[in-house]
Amino acid sequence: MTNGNAATGLRDLNTGIPGADQIKGAVSAVYDDVASWSRTGDFWNWGMHCPDLLEELTDLCPNFNAGVSDGFSEQLYFQTLRGLPYSRNDFKTLNVLEVGCGMGEGLNFLTRLVDPARAVGLDISTGAIRRANALLARGDRLTYVEGDAEQLPFDDGEFDLVINVESSHNYPDVERFFHEVARVLKPGGHFSLIDVFDPRSSAQFGKLQQEITGFEWFHERDVTENVKSAIRQRMAPGSFFRKEYARKQMPIRARIIGGLGGAHYAGADFIGHRDPLSRVLEIARIRPRFVGEYESYRHHVARRLTVGSTPNQAAKE
Ligand SMILES: C[S@@+](CC[C@H](N)C(=O)[O-])C[C@H]1O[C@@H](n2cnc3c(N)ncnc32)[C@H](O)[C@@H]1O
Repeated sequence: MTNGNAATGLRDLNTGIPGADQIKGAVSAVYDDVASWSRTGDFWNWGMHCPDLLEELTDLCPNFNAGVSDGFSEQLYFQTLRGLPYSRNDFKTLNVLEVGCGMGEGLNFLTRLVDPARAVGLDISTGAIRRANALLARGDRLTYVEGDAEQLPFDDGEFDLVINVESSHNYPDVERFFHEVARVLKPGGHFSLIDVFDPRSSAQFGKLQQEITGFEWFHERDVTENVKSAIRQRMAPGSFFRKEYARKQMPIRARIIGGLGGAHYAGADFIGHRDPLSRVLEIARIRPRFVGEYESYRHHVARRLTVGSTPNQAAKE
């Protein structure tokens, strides 16, 4: 018996990935824990710093982060709108889904910028969704639901735009996630994904771009240096991030995992920054080694093809 489809060359999605349920259980437990000590207004991504993007964002929404954040995570969310063929006015009629929305701050921020007809955030962490609904939900316009990226609890063609921010690297089966995104998007709808890649996930992403015929990948931007710049600034002594981290009421286990000044949570491994405490804890095997082989941080945008149309070449920003 083969595990694939002779016509498409793709594997049979019904067979699943071994250990996937355990991975998802562990991921949701970690983020439930993070939700229990996160502060209102916290994003859960490494952020990016791009002066042009920041200028554009500030023009659109002056003082968008006034005193409540360093603005890097908001820039990362703003980047997800780049390359899309929608004006601000167009959003008034669009249904938007964010998969892997964390505590919902990013989607809430985007709705302040573009105000879609309906925005839905989905996350596997019960704790994150509970907080998002308690603090940010707004009637039918902005709702948050618990669910799995690989099994979206939505009808076919329900959304015009699906965004995904620093989340897909957690999914055991990215192929299944892509098929789900294609299913819930209207033909002609858009998929905007931004994430960190290691050599394996990068190769797999390229393969899926070729193999999954439902998408035309037409825009990409490598934001590796912009993300590294944000992480460096967060790691600098006295930074907004470090001060906020020091004020958090975190359990000791979270401080051990997070390292000195929250280095791990801020993505310090990505810039090769390891604080002395982390090294000692790693050697003593109290804290696992987190140093990944991340090679790039990239934004990709695809259009959901209508039946019978063919993909064009992707443009680089
Ligand atoms: C690094 S956080 C990013 C959160 C948010 N996008 C942000 O930028 O603030 C990754 C998120 O992906 C979620 N996640 C991981 N695996 C998931 C899955 N299989 N389905 C849905 N969400 C998932 C986690 O619970 C977590 O909230």
